[in-house]
Amino acid sequence: FQPKLLTGQHVLVTAGPTYEAMDPVRGITNLSSGKMGFAIARAAREAGAEVTLVAGPVCLPTPRGITRVDVRSASNMLEAVMDKAPVADIFVATAAVADWRPAQEAEQKIKKDGSGQAPTLSFVENPDILATLAQSPRAQSGELFCVGFAAESQDLVANAQAKRLRKGVPLLVGNIGPATFGQDDNTLLLVDEQGVRELSRDTKLALARKLIADIAHKTRATG
Ligand code: C5P
Repeated sequence: FQPKLLTGQHVLVTAGPTYEAMDPVRGITNLSSGKMGFAIARAAREAGAEVTLVAGPVCLPTPRGITRVDVRSASNMLEAVMDKAPVADIFVATAAVADWRPAQEAEQKIKKDGSGQAPTLSFVENPDILATLAQSPRAQSGELFCVGFAAESQDLVANAQAKRLRKGVPLLVGNIGPATFGQDDNTLLLVDEQGVRELSRDTKLALARKLIADIAHKTRATG
């Protein structure tokens, strides 16, 4: 019998990429598979939490017993997250949210005009979902515990520590390279106020269970 670490807690998780349309048939996205976020949602449910998983476009089955909300763009993801945030106790931002979206979404498919000139795309910055939640009154008062992720290609420790402070979150989780996109394994670095701890290479589900145990410990200690 495993004691349930998160009974009575509501965990909100974002996962996967976002898709930012440039016209009705084309858009910008990234290679996030959503596996880490889905594993975290599953682990949180196993730990007894009520779980809402806000997923970008991914091809993954819904973990048993959780509520899944499918979204496309960063703006849609923010809206879905803000909808659930008032009842959440823990927010884990695993999604690889696009930093920018095309400034305009053309109503019709953009066509070649025969001139040989390629179209120029301009971009606008997307909302930062994690920073928005981390700055909310409930997060600031400690009622909502926010966890961020970082995928850095260099200087992971320094970058993850800086990102933790910049985003204003108590826990920042670094993906230790090489790129883990689509893989079933990962290595994580947990960065908190105390310092840095590595969770050695394992399946994403095993790591998710360890991460959830760490979050449960921290939220108990503070709340
Ligand atoms: O700034 P950067 O994209 O590296 O930060 C990564 C962390 O911030 C992840 O937890 C990611 O889910 C979150 N994020 C977000 N909204 C964005 C960009 C990143 O929630 N627009």
